Amino acid sequence: MKIAQFSAFGKPDEVIRCVDVDDVGAPGPDEAVIDVLAFPINPADLLTIEGRYALRPPLPARLGAECVGRVIARGRDVRGLVEGDLVIPLDRDNWVQRKKVKAAQLVKVPSNVDPLQLAMLKVNPPTAHLMMTKYVKLQPGEWLIQDAANSGVGHCLIQIAKAAGIRSVNVVRRDGLADELKALGGDVVAVDGPDLGERVRAATNGAAIRLAIDAVGGEQIVRLGDCLTEEAVIVNYGLLSGENPQLTGHQTVFKRLWLTGFWLMPTLQRMAPAEIQEMYAMLAGRIAGGSLRVPVEATYPIEQIAQAVAQANAYRRTGKVLVTPNGPLG
Ligand SMILES: NC(=O)c1ccc[n+]([C@@H]2O[C@H](COP(=O)([O-])OP(=O)(O)OC[C@H]3O[C@@H](n4cnc5c(N)ncnc54)[C@H](OP(=O)(O)O)[C@@H]3O)[C@@H](O)[C@H]2O)c1
Repeated sequence: MKIAQFSAFGKPDEVIRCVDVDDVGAPGPDEAVIDVLAFPINPADLLTIEGRYALRPPLPARLGAECVGRVIARGRDVRGLVEGDLVIPLDRDNWVQRKKVKAAQLVKVPSNVDPLQLAMLKVNPPTAHLMMTKYVKLQPGEWLIQDAANSGVGHCLIQIAKAAGIRSVNVVRRDGLADELKALGGDVVAVDGPDLGERVRAATNGAAIRLAIDAVGGEQIVRLGDCLTEEAVIVNYGLLSGENPQLTGHQTVFKRLWLTGFWLMPTLQRMAPAEIQEMYAMLAGRIAGGSLRVPVEATYPIEQIAQAVAQANAYRRTGKVLVTPNGPLG
C-alpha cells in the first residue's frame, strides 16, 4: 500500500514522497482496518514537515492530522461499527491508503455526506466551536472578531457563530473576499490595516466586542486588541505570521485584555469520550444538514502528494487541498 512519508525536515514539496510499504494486515480483537477515502493538507501538517510544529517525529516519518475512512474489517470485540461504515480516526498518521486503528479511536460519521467535508471534520470545526464557547459565554446578538477569516477555521467559525446568533467581524489580509464570507453568514468583513479599530467600531456601531480569535500573531493581535472592549479575551491558535503574539502596555494594563492560547490536541485529551462523540455528532450533523461547509480548491491522488503539498502551501487559495488515496470519489 502507499503512504506519504518524509525522511528529512525541509520544504514540504521537496521532502514529501509517496512510498510503498507492507499492508496493515488483519485487525486485532479491538481494532478496525479502514481504507482512507480522503485527507486534507492543513497548515499544521506543513509545519510538521518543516520541523516547526510542537510534535517533531523521528524520521522517516508518517504524518497527517485527519482523514475520513471506510471500515473494511473489524476485530471480534468491536461493537458499534460494521464494514462499510464511514469513520474519522482521532489518532494521527492519516496520510495513508489504509490503516489499522483501535476502534475506541474511531468516530462514526454519517455515510450519506460528502466525504471531502467529513475528511475536514476532525480539526477545524471543533477548533472553531471550542474557541467560540470555551472562553467567553457570548449571548446571541453579541459580536466576536477573528482574523484569517477566509481560512478553513475561519469558514467554520462564521457558520458556527451564525447558527448561535452571534455576529462576526471577519478580518482578512486581501480584497475580494467580502461577498463570499458574507454569503456564508459573516456580518462584517474588513481588510486588515492600521485603522482596523476605527473601521470595526463604525461597522458594528461601537459594539463591545468581548472575544477575538487569532491565527496570525504578531502585530495583528495589537490591531485586534484595538477593536475590543475592556477585559476582552484574545485566543491565539495559529502561527501564520511566524511572529510572536504582541500587545501594548496600554492594552494589558489599562484595557486589561486577556491573551491566551488554544490547541485542539490537549483539549480533546481532557474531554470525556462521550463528550467527544457528542461534539462530533453535532458537527457532523451540521455538515449533513448543509450548514457547515468549507470550500475545496483541488483534490489529488496520493502519488502526486508533492504537487498537492505545494498547492496547499500557496497563498490566495480558494479552498482546501485534499488527497483521495484510494482513487477519486464518485
Ligand atoms: N491550535 C489549534 O488547535 C489549531 C487547529 C486548527 C488550525 N489551527 C491553525 O489555524 C490556522 C488556519 O488553519 P486552516 O486549516 O484553517 O488554514 P487554511 O484553510 O489552510 O488557510 C490558511 C489561511 O491563512 C491565511 N494566511 C496565511 N498567512 C497569513 C498571514 N501572514 N496573515 C494573515 N492570513 C494569513 C491565508 O490567507 P490567503 O488566502 O490570503 O493566502 C488562508 O486564509 C493555521 O495556523 C493552523 O495551524 C490551529
